[in-house]
Amino acid sequence: MDIATTPTNPEGNPDLADAAPNPHDPPVIRREDYKPYPWLVPNVRLAFDLGIEKTAVKSTLEIARNPDAEPTSELRLDGDGLTADSVTVDGVEREWTMDGPDLLVTLPGESHTVEIVTTLDPSANTQLMGLYASNGMLCTQCEAEGFRRITFFPDRPDVLSTYSVRMEGSKAQFPILLCNGNREAEGDLQGGAHFAEWHDPWPKPSYLFALVAGDLVANSSTFTTMNGREVELNVWVREEDLPRTDHAMESLKKSMKWDEEVFGREYDLDLFNIVAVSDFNMGAMENKGLNVFNTKYVLADPDTATDGDFDAVEGVIAHEYFHNWSGNRITCRDWFQLSLKEGFTVLRDQLFSQDMQGEAVKRIEDVRILRAAQFPEDAGPLAHPIRPDSYREISNFYTATVYNKGAEVIRMMRSMAGEERFRKGTDLYFDRHDGEAATCEDFVRSIEEGAELDLTRFRRWYRQAGTPTVSVSHRVEGETLKLTLEQAVPATPGQPEKQPMPIPLRVAVHSRRKEAAGSEQLVILEDTKQTFDLPLTGPDPVVSINRGFSAPVIIDRALARQDLVFLAAHDDDPFARYEALQELAVRHLVDAASGELSEPDQVAGQEAIVGALRAILTDQALDDSMRGELMMLPSETYLFEAMAKGTRKADPGAIHEQREALKAALGGSLASELHALYDRTENVAFDDPAGRGARKVKTQVLVLAAASDPTKAAELAAHQYDRADNMTDRQGALMVLCGLEAPEREERLKAFYERYTGNALVIDKWFTMQALSLHPDILAQVGQLAKHPDFTIKNPNRVRSLYMAFAGNPQGFHSSDGAGYRMIADLILELDPINPQTAARFVPALGRWRRIEPGRAALMKAELERISKTDGLSRDTFEQVSRSLDG
Ligand code: TRP
Ligand code: ZN
Repeated sequence: MDIATTPTNPEGNPDLADAAPNPHDPPVIRREDYKPYPWLVPNVRLAFDLGIEKTAVKSTLEIARNPDAEPTSELRLDGDGLTADSVTVDGVEREWTMDGPDLLVTLPGESHTVEIVTTLDPSANTQLMGLYASNGMLCTQCEAEGFRRITFFPDRPDVLSTYSVRMEGSKAQFPILLCNGNREAEGDLQGGAHFAEWHDPWPKPSYLFALVAGDLVANSSTFTTMNGREVELNVWVREEDLPRTDHAMESLKKSMKWDEEVFGREYDLDLFNIVAVSDFNMGAMENKGLNVFNTKYVLADPDTATDGDFDAVEGVIAHEYFHNWSGNRITCRDWFQLSLKEGFTVLRDQLFSQDMQGEAVKRIEDVRILRAAQFPEDAGPLAHPIRPDSYREISNFYTATVYNKGAEVIRMMRSMAGEERFRKGTDLYFDRHDGEAATCEDFVRSIEEGAELDLTRFRRWYRQAGTPTVSVSHRVEGETLKLTLEQAVPATPGQPEKQPMPIPLRVAVHSRRKEAAGSEQLVILEDTKQTFDLPLTGPDPVVSINRGFSAPVIIDRALARQDLVFLAAHDDDPFARYEALQELAVRHLVDAASGELSEPDQVAGQEAIVGALRAILTDQALDDSMRGELMMLPSETYLFEAMAKGTRKADPGAIHEQREALKAALGGSLASELHALYDRTENVAFDDPAGRGARKVKTQVLVLAAASDPTKAAELAAHQYDRADNMTDRQGALMVLCGLEAPEREERLKAFYERYTGNALVIDKWFTMQALSLHPDILAQVGQLAKHPDFTIKNPNRVRSLYMAFAGNPQGFHSSDGAGYRMIADLILELDPINPQTAARFVPALGRWRRIEPGRAALMKAELERISKTDGLSRDTFEQVSRSLDG
């Protein structure tokens, strides 16, 4: 490899990656060691003789010296679990050597043709990386380093090649043969075989290669681009799934149109294929012209998918489509630059969904995801900058930090520049780097020049991990409000000292007396501490800050309860309104869980929240989709983060107890308002424009009722379940029933299972609802579900449906005897040899041990240690477990 892997660190940082001297440990790859590959591979020809148990691959590489790299006569090709059947250079058989998994050949001249034959067994590929079998079909997943499991190759994103591919296989078994680009030839062969030849004219890195062979049918349509080119569109699925593909097709067309209108990006091939696969490690993959999707993000109809599922399909289809420009036409120089494509593409899909689904609600949902997934990561042992400095296994860095915080960082640039200037920046980026493997620095420089911003200091967001806290205080001087902001960026593993980062905050000063909105302005906190002068709009000022969540930071402000109630009822920024209510609840619940509330404070706090929620339940001007958002209490995960501050540790048991108590108090005090809301929304028809909002608030009413009046709630939920003509109502009702000990629970669970037997995605929901439930016997139940005939550890969706849900169920996972931790550790150890990428994703749940009360911390740590002492761990799990113990 050109990327040096010596465990030295020239900067002398206390980098945690250095703390592992064991020579058997997987090597550390460092960003600063980047060197270009010594060879260019302008053209690749691949010939596949396809079979489920045996596939032969002949790869022909045109190779030439890279004039921009240090010369060498050694050709080193990455491999992973491969042996070569033969190697020829310029048509002559050649000696080769292996260095671990890699293949080495000596190339004496300037350019050569190298041909390599490998043989694979796709049916034995349980990792789902490279070429694998799923449901009788063959498909590939190459990002990040899966191509090296198909053939020996410089499997790195800065080696760009054009691909010509011939696929051959049984016509009965694989009637459909798909690959990147355009189909140039097809035909029948002897003995029931057939072939197809594909050519992709756009140079691409190996991680964007894909093929699919199987018995599939398509939902087909066309799209005419802004320059009048007609593109054939197909969504390929198994025949029985065809009726559930219309939403995916519509989402694709909307995405194509939106990217033309908003970013000026036009599609660049005559064909765009999407294939749905039921065994898949992640959500979907943007392979050039042939996106491969988890069925979960393609299939949707009202009977089997919730409103949330519909939105997720739309968002993921957009995400993968948008990668065609932000990822494929401009790709990454190396995997440290991953946020270049992922952060930007997440921002693009969020902006698209805001336009499709409504800006305010979508923004709240995105912030909820960030806080649930990224804030804990940034506060724990696995914290890393959006552009990491080192890794052992790149699969571990497909994180909420790289994706979601990466999107927030670019969103901040957009806020500072304004939409128009930001577009000038992205135009310059696409123009300047088209066809290249670029870096995050290239992106920042393009935005800087195109949008005319000075991003010198702002670049720190790419280097520094940790969620900044901004402390807010103010005083009034005459007609001016002096707003003082002070930032602190916490120490994170390997980064003890931090520099201040520019933080753009949208601010308004309201007047409580006038109930009038103050005008908004953007202030940018550049230094550690700054004071800003803002005009007053009236007496009793209330500051509304980080409106729209303009920066991914934690705001620390000592607002009086009455001011938060005021903001929750009157702020003109919908996000700020949501935030005020969340803050009221967080403050109350964290104080209560810490035992820091006096009796009168407990009562006053609860009354304030009741009052604020009453205003929301009865606000005629609010639409129900937004009302539904506002009705959701902060999650236990978020409360965990808020409680674990400074030296205080989180107590999941106390958090759970207090949150349930508050739900009960709200359900009780607001019973008549809640029932009125339910009555108003109960009979809104499914396809009424108000239907979505109605479905959302109905289930939120049930959630609160379940805590205050479980018998009545069970009755209502069962009724909702029985009358439901759509999955949103049905799942909402069943989810609430799952948390209750009522006869209705077992009956409806059984009915649900029977109704949907054979529909894998809905049976996943059946597992998830039970694993997430507040049932007192949750541990035993999950144990039973793992023995259910429909459970299989080989299918990632099924594993996640049971165990990810369980790991996110604080009551079960944090069971005080450690049984929940043991269950997840056992799963990791069982899954690691089968599918390491999926196994390693369960480690972060255990990695939060430092921030939890000592009893549970010791139990979590013991499980991590048990895993770390196991022989033969994958690189994926090894890295996550050792970072979790050290960091
Ligand atoms: N690049 C893909 C996306 O963000 C996700 C991805 C990365 C992936 N690695 C993967 C998907 C491995 C499946 C398996 O859209
Ligand atoms: Zn992506």
